[in-house]
Amino acid sequence: MPERIKARAADYGLPMYFDMQAKIGHTKHLGGIYVTQKLAELCQLGPGITLLNVGSGSGIYAAYVAERYGCRVIGVDILPAMVESAQRWAEAKGLTELLEFRIADAQDLPFEENQFDALICESVNAFVPDKEKALREYIRVVKPGGYIGFAEAIWVKAPSETVAETIEEATGQQFYSPEIWETLFQNSGLVDLHSENHQLTMRGEARNQSGLISFRDYLRILGRFFWLFFSDRETRSLMKYIGSNPRQYFEYMGFGIFGGRKP
Ligand SMILES: C[S@@+](CC[C@H](N)C(=O)[O-])C[C@H]1O[C@@H](n2cnc3c(N)ncnc32)[C@H](O)[C@@H]1O
Repeated sequence: MPERIKARAADYGLPMYFDMQAKIGHTKHLGGIYVTQKLAELCQLGPGITLLNVGSGSGIYAAYVAERYGCRVIGVDILPAMVESAQRWAEAKGLTELLEFRIADAQDLPFEENQFDALICESVNAFVPDKEKALREYIRVVKPGGYIGFAEAIWVKAPSETVAETIEEATGQQFYSPEIWETLFQNSGLVDLHSENHQLTMRGEARNQSGLISFRDYLRILGRFFWLFFSDRETRSLMKYIGSNPRQYFEYMGFGIFGGRKP
């Protein structure tokens, strides 16, 4: 990725578009609401449950989960700007009693052991340098019997070197085959393992990314995006760069849902 489009997220080894997303108050993961509902089902979310959402980003999905399933959600993110953005979202939605956001690195969680009923990460672990260490941390903080679920971008078809480089540069993350994530779970000591893979399609993404927020919130986020786009040259460069990622590469891309229960 060109040097000039890097900014503060780069201090944490993360892609610059996270800075833009924190400013506009919107993050997402492949598979959107489908993935979140599936993880909620695996974690058996409901009232009385306390969920740790690692890499909670803008907090939009954490708020959705708290509101729909009535559970308490603690979100952590390594980027302070994301945590601020998530706190603003919780306040705007009137959900501060169910939601709390803190700055923390997935690889070193500031919690005692056996604290959470369940834990989910949506499009986070691909960005975490030491995935085994992070998973050990997740297992440590979840109660025995608690579920740990990941959603991650995956290759559904082996890409050529050029395709892999283009997609990974544009998305700022490394994609893996589903087997890599499955092996991580198989070696972790978790039981009742789950793995499912989905091909990325334009129609599926359009469906999965809609219906999460109100039209009014959507317009607000879009307004912030356009303001940033017209006022910030680096955002324009970044969008041009991301937009140059050809859609036909969708045939290689997908998302996987992986999980397991702490014995
Ligand atoms: C693609 S965004 C997804 C955000 C959110 N889960 C969602 O679906 O909207 C990835 C998030 O993971 C966070 N992140 C990356 N590495 C992290 C780490 N080591 N510890 C905690 N959060 C991390 C990023 O700051 C970013 O907010």
